[in-house]
Amino acid sequence: MTAHDEKKHKNPAPITILGLESSCDETAAAIVRSDTTILSNVIASSSEIHASHGGVVPEIAARAHLDTLEPVVRHALQEAGITWDEIDGVAATAGPGLIGGVLVGTVAAKAMAQFHDKPYYAINHLEGHALTARLTDKVAFPYLLLLVSGGHTQLLLVKDVGSYERLGTTMDDAAGELFDKSAKVLGLGYPGGPAIEKSALNGNPKALRLPRPLKGADHCHFSFSGLKTALAQAVEKYGDAHEVADYAAALQDAITDCLGDRVTKALAIAKQNAAFAKDPVLVVAGGVAANKKIAETLDKVASNAQARLIVPPAALCTDNAAMIAWAGTEYASRGQPSSRDFAPRPRWPLDESAAPPPGRGVRP
Ligand code: KG4
Ligand code: ZN
Repeated sequence: MTAHDEKKHKNPAPITILGLESSCDETAAAIVRSDTTILSNVIASSSEIHASHGGVVPEIAARAHLDTLEPVVRHALQEAGITWDEIDGVAATAGPGLIGGVLVGTVAAKAMAQFHDKPYYAINHLEGHALTARLTDKVAFPYLLLLVSGGHTQLLLVKDVGSYERLGTTMDDAAGELFDKSAKVLGLGYPGGPAIEKSALNGNPKALRLPRPLKGADHCHFSFSGLKTALAQAVEKYGDAHEVADYAAALQDAITDCLGDRVTKALAIAKQNAAFAKDPVLVVAGGVAANKKIAETLDKVASNAQARLIVPPAALCTDNAAMIAWAGTEYASRGQPSSRDFAPRPRWPLDESAAPPPGRGVRP
């Protein structure tokens, strides 16, 4: 082996992956390298169209992906300034999510991979979120992940690529869903999280008392539908006797309290894993992590447990394609491409062996 070969062997050339995301209302394409360089990260959202409907309309979203994907991919290639020769594979979200959008993204990715003779990587959207902290902060395994978005509220011990232990999930609504549905009740518009956060700035969280479902429970699961009902009932009962800002502040407080409590429990459980206990790291991902009050609370919860808190930048915490491309590099580095026959999965839990949470309903 020559000195050059030896160097190459120690520092193999980074792998470059094109990633596509289309599982909800964002059509996104990104090009990312295994050395953590983001060459491009392009995102187009149809959320403005959905705003007038008060939530994502699957048929409209799928149509928007069809119209937008090709220009978004072209833009990503232009921004990266590279040609197909320099791309080593194509990754796409293959679930969980709205099946129309997932089909648009995976069919396009497979066609591009086939045409350019590159490997294809079928990526679990949740794994994209779960591995982002390795792209942004080179976090080592294992770590605890709180994923809080419009579709998911989960606590996962991330042990390795493809290896997850789900410690908790929601029995009903996701935290972001609660923000969105409650904003509708309060007439604050969509998406509800930022609107409630803004309104809450002028409100008194103690003006009314809302419940804290599952606070103190001896497991790490969440439940938010009781809180949704409690807020709707309070609005019906007290009406204008409270300001909208007071309802918003009380709701934000209750959600924050529940999240803080469940994460405290999960950190304690995760510490039973010796490798985790050595250097406990809490990673937060998903749109709800953008909430200042929630972020501050999680910061306190982590420091109380002597854990490091890592919150990737908002643009990489919410849905994006860089996380899908990055997950593609993780599989590519391990030499694990997907079969082109891989069927998209609208439901696709990261921990297939996790027992359903107590109570009704099972979320992916
Ligand atoms: O991760 P994300 O962009 O998309 C998915 O749901 O996958 O998360 C969107 C969710 C929405 O429910 C939105 O209301 C919530 O994140 N969200 C927030 C804030 N910004 C976005 N919730 C609370 N406070 C915020 N500042
Ligand atoms: Zn997501």
